[in-house]
Amino acid sequence: MSETLILGIETSCDETAAAVVADGNKMHSNIIASQIEDHCKFGGVVPEIASRKHLEIINDVVAQALAEAGVTFADLSAIAVTHGPGLVGALLVGVNAAKTLAYALDKPLVAVNHIFSHVAANFLVHHIEFPAVCLVVSGGHTSLLYMTSRFDAVLLGATRDDAAGEAFDKVARVLGLGYPGGPAVDRAARNGDSSAFVFPRAFSGQDEVFNFSFSGLKSAVINTLHNLRQKNEVVNTADVAASFQHAVVEILVEKTRAAARSKQAQTVLLAGGVAANSLLRRRLAQALEQDGRRLLYPPMELCTDNAAMVAAAGYDLFKRQKFAGLDLNATPVLDI
Ligand code: KG4
Ligand code: ZN
Repeated sequence: MSETLILGIETSCDETAAAVVADGNKMHSNIIASQIEDHCKFGGVVPEIASRKHLEIINDVVAQALAEAGVTFADLSAIAVTHGPGLVGALLVGVNAAKTLAYALDKPLVAVNHIFSHVAANFLVHHIEFPAVCLVVSGGHTSLLYMTSRFDAVLLGATRDDAAGEAFDKVARVLGLGYPGGPAVDRAARNGDSSAFVFPRAFSGQDEVFNFSFSGLKSAVINTLHNLRQKNEVVNTADVAASFQHAVVEILVEKTRAAARSKQAQTVLLAGGVAANSLLRRRLAQALEQDGRRLLYPPMELCTDNAAMVAAAGYDLFKRQKFAGLDLNATPVLDI
C-alpha cells in the first residue's frame, strides 16, 4: 500500500512553515522560515508584520517542502493547515493557501488545532503508550490534557491568564534580555541562584486543580525589579531569571505530576515552545521517574512552531475523514 502523504502548513504566529509527513510519523521535509529578526527590534511579535511576511514567502516555503521531500503536488493525499488558535491575520495566510491548494488540486483539506499539533510533535519521534497526560506549554497556551489515543484529548485544566511562555517573554523584556525571551531567560538562569527571590506559585497545593496562573508571578518579578531600581540597588539578572524560572517550573511539575497520578497515566508528554526549557525537562523527568512514569518530549526544533507537527496531527483527522470545507476560516480563539 502506498504512503499517506500530508502537506502541513503553519502560519499561526511568526514562523512560516510547511512540511511533508508520511503516514503520520515519517518526516520527509520540515521547512521553517522564522521572522524573529523582523520582530525582535519591537520586543515582540507585531501581528501586521507577521501576516505580511507570511504572505511574501508562503509559496516559496511550500515549494521548498515539496522539493526537499522529493514529491509533487499530485503525490499528496491531503493538505493540513493550522486554523487556530493564533493571530487572525497570520492564520488567514495559511488557511487561504491551504484552501487554494485543496481546491486547485482537488485534494482533501484538514483543519488542525495549533495546541493539538504541538502534542502531535511527539508522534513524529516516539511510539506513545496511551493513556497519557500531556502538558502543552507555549507562548500562547498552558494546558494539561488527558489523552486516550492520538486523536482523543480531554482538557484537564489551563491557564486562567498568561501562558507560561508569555511570562518568560515579559520577564525577559523587563530584564533587558531581548526577544524571544524563553531561551534568553533559560541561559541567564544557568548562572543564577534560584533561591535569591521567592516568587508566587498560583494554585500550589490544590491537588485536583489543574489550572495555572502566571500573571501574578509576572507582576511580582516586575515589582521586585522596580523596587530594586528605585532604591538604586544592583539587579542581579541571573538571580532574578533563575528564581522566576524556578517558580514556573515548580508549578508546572507539581500540576503535571498530580494530573498523571490522578489519571493513572504511565506516559506523560511535554509539548510547545517552553518544552525546550532545560530546567523543565530535567525536573519533570526526575519527578515522573520517582513515580515510575515515563516522560517524552520532542527534540528542540520540533518544540517550537513547525509544520511537521501540523501534518502529523492532520494525518489522524484524514484517517477519520474529518475533512474541512472550503468555507474554512481562521479561528483566533479555539479550545482543544
Ligand atoms: O510553541 P511556540 O513556538 O509558539 C506558540 O505557539 O506560542 O512557543 C514560543 C514560546 C515563546 O514564549 C518562547 O519564549 C518560549 O516558547 N520558549 C522557551 C524556551 N524556548 C522557547 N521558554 C522557556 N525556555 C526555553 N528554552
Ligand atoms: Zn505554537
